[in-house]
Amino acid sequence: MRIRVDYNNMTRKMAGRRGFTDKDIASVADLCAAAADAMDANRDSMRWRELPYFQEEAIARIEEEAERVRRECEYFVVLGIGGSALGPIAVHQALSHLKYNELPNSRRRGPRFYVLDNVDPESMTALFDVIDPQKTIFNVITKSGGTSETMSQLLIVSDMLLRIYCEDISSHLVAITDEFKGNLIKIAKLENLPTFYVPDGVGGRFSELCPVGLFSAAVCGIDIRELLAGAAYMDEICEEKDYRKNPAYMLGALSYLSMRRGLNIQVLMPYTDSLKYIADWFAQLWAESLGKRVHRDGTEAYTGQTPVKALGVTDQHSQVQLYTEGPFDKVITFLGVDRYRSLVAMPERYPDIPDVSFLSGHTLNELIKAEQSATEYAVMKSGHLSQTITLPEVNPFTVGELLYLFEMMTAFTGELLGINAFDQPGVEEGKNATYALLGKPGYDEKRAELEKMPEKNPEYIIR
Ligand code: PA5
Repeated sequence: MRIRVDYNNMTRKMAGRRGFTDKDIASVADLCAAAADAMDANRDSMRWRELPYFQEEAIARIEEEAERVRRECEYFVVLGIGGSALGPIAVHQALSHLKYNELPNSRRRGPRFYVLDNVDPESMTALFDVIDPQKTIFNVITKSGGTSETMSQLLIVSDMLLRIYCEDISSHLVAITDEFKGNLIKIAKLENLPTFYVPDGVGGRFSELCPVGLFSAAVCGIDIRELLAGAAYMDEICEEKDYRKNPAYMLGALSYLSMRRGLNIQVLMPYTDSLKYIADWFAQLWAESLGKRVHRDGTEAYTGQTPVKALGVTDQHSQVQLYTEGPFDKVITFLGVDRYRSLVAMPERYPDIPDVSFLSGHTLNELIKAEQSATEYAVMKSGHLSQTITLPEVNPFTVGELLYLFEMMTAFTGELLGINAFDQPGVEEGKNATYALLGKPGYDEKRAELEKMPEKNPEYIIR
């Protein structure tokens, strides 16, 4: 069940004069060796790499609590944002029925599942229109324990629950947060909520394989032990020191070479609806980890590659024109599967219309694969660079592999770029400005800074 990485179409042989030569790839050998050493030496500080191994106790509790949630509710709602929402969404889409919420209760493995990862009042109202709060369990997730979006959702939800249940709301809320820091842990203790912890040293976007992602997955009946087994398997594969034999390191090396050449866009294009939101999850991982103003030594960096989400075949009819004939500023990563979990045949109809009947006798499985191959070919022929990651099948094991592969690729690319891939000062700036605007105590200085912004020129606003 091993994932394949095919980078033929990144090379000069396939993608013409724009592809990388063996010499180009060899030119980063020393840098990659040093980065591989750093990945080994710093493993202790990358606690997310140990997630497949040390969570036995947490997993047992997660499974037990997930069982209770399945027994007691009809709706399960995650409140969170960024790394506290994108992983749960991506894994649910990958491993649950594609029309999960619409299935009758008898065919669903858990309660209906929703994620509220925005503070759009219309979405909040719409959610309350479809759930029954008496039959709902909310899972509030915030690693820092203070993100204002998540806290605002919690305020609204806990108040609503209080009005229904008076004092005790503990059977309708599950918290996931840092064990010692932040406000959610204080609230969890105050309200006596069942609580899972984000292990120390696991950053938001690297947290899918801890309770942040495992709990909602378990509630929806996904085999979380297999997810972790897949991640452990990829970890073993990534022990290979030679970047040319290590899929994560090779993806990192090619990304680094691409960025050096000004290919500053990374398109991730899954050819299956089930992996559609893996592209959203990856976008955060890639953007927040690599988009950095300074190197580790403090010198100016301004690194990063803009992630773009696309979906095969849907976006062949919207974006692929740009990917073949547009500027040479991007790499396209196709994400394919060998075996789809359904087989759908196209029946014999309309024999007198050959432009339609040529499809008869084929399957949608053949069609989607042919379209992927054809798009890979067209992109390659146009001299644009692409690579293809293939899952033998989408299942908990291979999804665990894929998540871990992307995390390793990102961390390794960060090493090559000489930046800190694990912080997000740019996000913190926005969070702090929000606190200041809403009058959070301790943010007076930031508020004063915001007030000094130049006035807007009304002439530049068209009404
Ligand atoms: O990767 C990160 O750490 C961030 O993007 C967070 O996931 C995001 O800001 C949400 O933070 P928290 O989980 O602390 O609410």
